[in-house]
Amino acid sequence: MDSNWLARYEESMLGVFGTPAMVLTRGEGVYVEDADGNTYMDLLGGIAVNALGHAHPAIAQAVEKQVRTLVHASNFFATMPQIELGEALREIVGGSGQAKVFLSNSGTEANEAALKIVKAHGNATGKNRILALKNAFHGRSLGALSLTYKPAYREPFAPLISNIEWIEPTTIALDEAFAAGDVAGIFVEPIQGEAGVIEVPPNFLTWARTLCDQNDALLAVDEVQTGMGRTGQWMAHHGAGVVPDVVTLAKALGGGVPIGATITLSSVASAVLKPGMHGTTFGGNPVAAAAALAVIRTIKSDGLLEHARILGDQWMDSIRALKNPHIKQVRGRGLLIGIELDEPRAGMAVKVAQESGFIINAANPATIRLAPPLILTGEQADAFTAALPDIISRSYSEGEL
Ligand SMILES: Cc1ncc(COP(=O)(O)O)c(C=O)c1O
Repeated sequence: MDSNWLARYEESMLGVFGTPAMVLTRGEGVYVEDADGNTYMDLLGGIAVNALGHAHPAIAQAVEKQVRTLVHASNFFATMPQIELGEALREIVGGSGQAKVFLSNSGTEANEAALKIVKAHGNATGKNRILALKNAFHGRSLGALSLTYKPAYREPFAPLISNIEWIEPTTIALDEAFAAGDVAGIFVEPIQGEAGVIEVPPNFLTWARTLCDQNDALLAVDEVQTGMGRTGQWMAHHGAGVVPDVVTLAKALGGGVPIGATITLSSVASAVLKPGMHGTTFGGNPVAAAAALAVIRTIKSDGLLEHARILGDQWMDSIRALKNPHIKQVRGRGLLIGIELDEPRAGMAVKVAQESGFIINAANPATIRLAPPLILTGEQADAFTAALPDIISRSYSEGEL
């Protein structure tokens, strides 16, 4: 059955994702089921999206109620879920409490709006250079792609937006980049998820904030993957004690229902986009907003920030305690975890793990990424830890790299 569905997939879908591993039919909690009736523990959560797991009643009820009430309104009109979500995001993003929210549908769109803010600010101040980090991933639409590091993603679409420069995540690199006085802004992922779960050094964000202040430049923090409690705090940058000018969110925000948010925290950034300078048909859609509100309320009511923080620490410790000779490093924060192997075997580990009933992912050829639902229990995490030595040894012994 599964192969027939996959053949139909290949026949009808554009081949940008290659052949998917399987066809999923349903999910509940941290488990998903494929078209052949096999069950998997989902430790990837739709790539850091399904924060409340699958088929969570709070999301199901919120979405159902909203679909039966008002599915779409356009931005000629406001809706109550949209307004309530704006207020809720203002509260959880922090800063001075004066944040302003633009809602869209995805991470790349959230970054498009952030890039427009930085570019327009630069045009107004006469600064035209934009900084991003080596190995950054900010999305696939042409603006966000211009900020994304990997040449293979960008080169087929050249020329992209010019005057973007990728720097090492060091204070020295920041000093050098800001020296000419022409920087309009800088984009930073507090933890680079796609690059392999690599955190920027603790003083990087604070120094970037200082230089942005001194140079009238904007600090944009991409929390698309790290935000919404994944790291045990609402936002990964909260630990650094800086207030960015712009924060972008998506992925877990809607718990699986597509939604993105661009949040301005400084009065300068909030004033850049004037009426008519940006827009969207679906952004702020009341169904997506209702889902996001359900996610935020459930994270709060179920104490999932603390849970992610404590479980993440315990889990990383227990994986380290395996003392597996092929594990070079276990890193991350909360429930965003990278397991770096001593050879590029992560792709094989994904395959073997799937045969063993676990969905994981290779963030890079040598790094396994875990980004499970925040509702994962300690017992479920332990089940994966117990299976990991066998998954690793089979990944090293079976087949070609
Ligand atoms: C840090 C970061 N920014 C932006 C994006 C793009 O988000 P989307 O795929 O929703 O466009 C991603 C997706 O992986 C991401 O990890």
